[in-house]
Amino acid sequence: MAIEFSNVWYRYPGSRKWVLSSVDVGFDESRIYVVFGPNGSGKTTLLKIASLIYRPVKGKVFAWGYDYWSLPNSKRIELRRRIVYVHEKPVLFKGTVEYNIAYGLMIRGLDRHEALVKARVLLEKLGLSYLADKKTNGLSAGEAQLVAILRAIVLEPRILVLDEPFAHLDSSKRDKIMELVLELRENGTGVVIASHDVFLAKAIAERVIVVENGKVLKPD
Ligand SMILES: Nc1ncnc2c1ncn2[C@@H]1O[C@H](COP(=O)(O)OP(=O)(O)OP(=O)(O)O)[C@@H](O)[C@H]1O
Ligand SMILES: [Mg+2]
Repeated sequence: MAIEFSNVWYRYPGSRKWVLSSVDVGFDESRIYVVFGPNGSGKTTLLKIASLIYRPVKGKVFAWGYDYWSLPNSKRIELRRRIVYVHEKPVLFKGTVEYNIAYGLMIRGLDRHEALVKARVLLEKLGLSYLADKKTNGLSAGEAQLVAILRAIVLEPRILVLDEPFAHLDSSKRDKIMELVLELRENGTGVVIASHDVFLAKAIAERVIVVENGKVLKPD
């Protein structure tokens, strides 16, 4: 299992209310998961713990077999890079779409030119080349969401975590992302999607994880 929760509890700093309690759940490569549940049930919190961003208050998170939060920093960084989380309200940098998509690759040490080429190739593949030179402050909400997703995909994570990725997308863009998600899965990436949309969940998920009131319901 790539990511495995073992009796995970979480509450936000300064709050006494448990937002997640006693969660045991696992996410593997080459699988699609949908985390489903009402507003405030704990989906985003669960996704951020799975993405190794939040540290559980109680319990453990294993990442590729390692007890992640007990590891030294250098090892954590290496494992952390295998997972990319796309925020439900993504913030893009100033500059062009192409630059935004290429930026993460540059940070990871790829040559600027090569990074920009990769960004262009990805945009082209999705029929979105017209966006490449657009400034991000002139994008619609749906376009911005797409760019945020592409910015994650270009990093070729082993686990891609998408928090409500379809909220602003029209049906044709949503279909494009769904196709891409299926292709990623074929190539070995695990995809975790938080969504309120039960139809979507059932359409693409191999496993639906139902969260209610901070608890993961046991499958029937
Ligand atoms: N930064 C925070 N500080 C304190 N409480 C928080 C914080 N973020 C979320 N919460 C609380 O944690 C609970 C779970 O929130 P979370 O964002 O995980 O839910 P969600 O299922 O993703 O909801 P939505 O469907 O609206 O995105 C909610 O009660 C929320 O108020
Ligand atoms: Mg959320």
